[in-house]
Amino acid sequence: MDYGMKNRLSRIIKPKDGKTVMLAVDHGYFMGPTGGLENIGKSITPLLRYADSLMLTRGILRSQIDPKIDIPIVLRVSGGTSILKDDLSDEDIVVSMEDAVRLNVSAVALSIFIGSKNEKQGIINLSKLVDKGYKYGIPVLAVTAVGREMTRDARYLSLAVRIAAETGAGIVKTYYCEDFDRVVETCPVPVVVAGGKKTGEREALELAYNAVKHGAAGVDMGRNIFQSEKPANMIKAVKAVVHKGLAPEEAYEREYNS
Ligand code: 5RP
Repeated sequence: MDYGMKNRLSRIIKPKDGKTVMLAVDHGYFMGPTGGLENIGKSITPLLRYADSLMLTRGILRSQIDPKIDIPIVLRVSGGTSILKDDLSDEDIVVSMEDAVRLNVSAVALSIFIGSKNEKQGIINLSKLVDKGYKYGIPVLAVTAVGREMTRDARYLSLAVRIAAETGAGIVKTYYCEDFDRVVETCPVPVVVAGGKKTGEREALELAYNAVKHGAAGVDMGRNIFQSEKPANMIKAVKAVVHKGLAPEEAYEREYNS
């Protein structure tokens, strides 16, 4: 791995503890104006000081995020579907690496859908993106296991995550599951966990705690932060769990409930 790629990765996963709290707000690329992100610039700008990186699309980056804000960007570059379609797996690369460079991003993100009818297309796209990323020193984050029909157990997730890493992803994002150690242990690159649908704050903190305890490098969390009643407090609580190892209840009382 060359200097540029290592440097970019270290902006996302903090070298002091090898952990990260990524704020994911890319949902609109197939879900449109997701709850909590209707006025996305207004709702997420106050959270940026607490996030280790921001995952979003180029349209929102260019139109809503002040370029003077110092935050590593993970740019969603796959798309081509919407929630109106039955099959969300029919994605392609929709942003060039040159535009990612122009936007000075720290990584690019693409979904793969292992087990779907577009499995091959996703893996080939990931492979092409990794090749282009190497040209410019930009790591690729592969997002796995999005979709309605997937059984998100350790057997499936370790398969999906490992395929992403074997194809060249520098970071893999997946879901937490029972026996999560197995997913992490068989993946040679850092694994981060998505938050999933909005749950209670305590439950989401528990998820972050368990994910890190069982080997995740952190979270790439969206709805459980920006749909919370107190999003800034919630991201502070998630940070306390991920970076300081606070127990969920302690983080809830100290950071969320303060
Ligand atoms: C969608 C994504 C989202 O960024 C991801 O699902 C994280 O958000 P949440 O915590 O809301 O699940 O990659 O494809």
